[in-house]
Amino acid sequence: MTAAYPTLDDHLAGQDVPEALKVVVAAIATECVAIAGVVRLGGLAGALGLAGTANVQDEEQKKLDVMTNDMLTERLKACQPVAAVGSEEMDLIEPTGRTGGYLVTFDPLDGSSNIDINAPVGTIFSILPAPEGRAPVEADFLIGGRKQVGAGYAVYGAQTMLVLTLSGGVTGFTLDAQGRWHLTNPDIVVPADTKEFAINMSNRRHWAPAVRAYIDDCLAGKTGPRGKDFNMRWVAAMVADVHRVLMRGGVFLYPWDQREPDRPGKLRLLYEGAPMALLIERAGGKATTDGVTPILDVIPRNLHERCAVALGSANEIDAYAGTPAGNDLRQV
Ligand code: AHG
Ligand code: MN
Ligand code: MN
Repeated sequence: MTAAYPTLDDHLAGQDVPEALKVVVAAIATECVAIAGVVRLGGLAGALGLAGTANVQDEEQKKLDVMTNDMLTERLKACQPVAAVGSEEMDLIEPTGRTGGYLVTFDPLDGSSNIDINAPVGTIFSILPAPEGRAPVEADFLIGGRKQVGAGYAVYGAQTMLVLTLSGGVTGFTLDAQGRWHLTNPDIVVPADTKEFAINMSNRRHWAPAVRAYIDDCLAGKTGPRGKDFNMRWVAAMVADVHRVLMRGGVFLYPWDQREPDRPGKLRLLYEGAPMALLIERAGGKATTDGVTPILDVIPRNLHERCAVALGSANEIDAYAGTPAGNDLRQV
């Protein structure tokens, strides 16, 4: 049955990108197969529960956060064209001792609050060019999402899928029982219109007035200003919420809120915002901080910088940007 679909190797062979980049993507994809195996086994692999540690962002680490971070770090440090890695779970970058090639950043396990309840989680990655002829330093990672040469994620859900963009569009692969990726979604496009939004509604009282106005307009349905009924989804794993947007449209919102006014948003620019923004833009959607500013144009000031996120179906992101309360959607 799977013979009908090209494999990831077949697909990479046909891509007009440097061989070294294909090697990096193949290494990440291989490690995601291993991670999928651990996720599937859950408690049987000792993968559930807390690790008893906190990461640099002072978030409690789950056992699986630590395990997957170690797995990906080790794989990429052994991958010849990789000069350094950066991770949501590590304070500092880890140089590999080699120069040139690529830098890889990742969220090894996105949606980690879902692990213990057997709901979808994923791995998000971003690939940047490394400087030539010298060891990389943190500043080399802070060049902005437009400079990514590739990005993608694996989602460990009802199916395990890998979604990828290199030089062209967005492609999706499904994992078979033998651990091989098959190209099941050769050209993923985000529909321009949607009636579905994703936001953590429990934060409503903390949002900027314009975000409240936008969501209230959606909730008003057919007889409200938007003239249509909306549906809501919130998986609490960006990777699964963005996957839904890539598969059938929608908007995914994690805006700035007043709980921590100095923080632009909850999600991380290098490990979550930028790679997802590249995928969404390449699939014809919009990926912004505030409905207007492209996430890919935000130049990070540090490795663990946060960003507000409003991404998805292009016309709906325009509607988000155009809510009556106007510009106060925009974060500082
Ligand atoms: P992570 O598990 O890597 O820390 O990321 C969790 C993120 C993101 O995946 C998700 O969309 C969001 O946090 C969920 O936030 P709420 O807890 O507000 O639902
Ligand atoms: Mn995450
Ligand atoms: Mn994570």
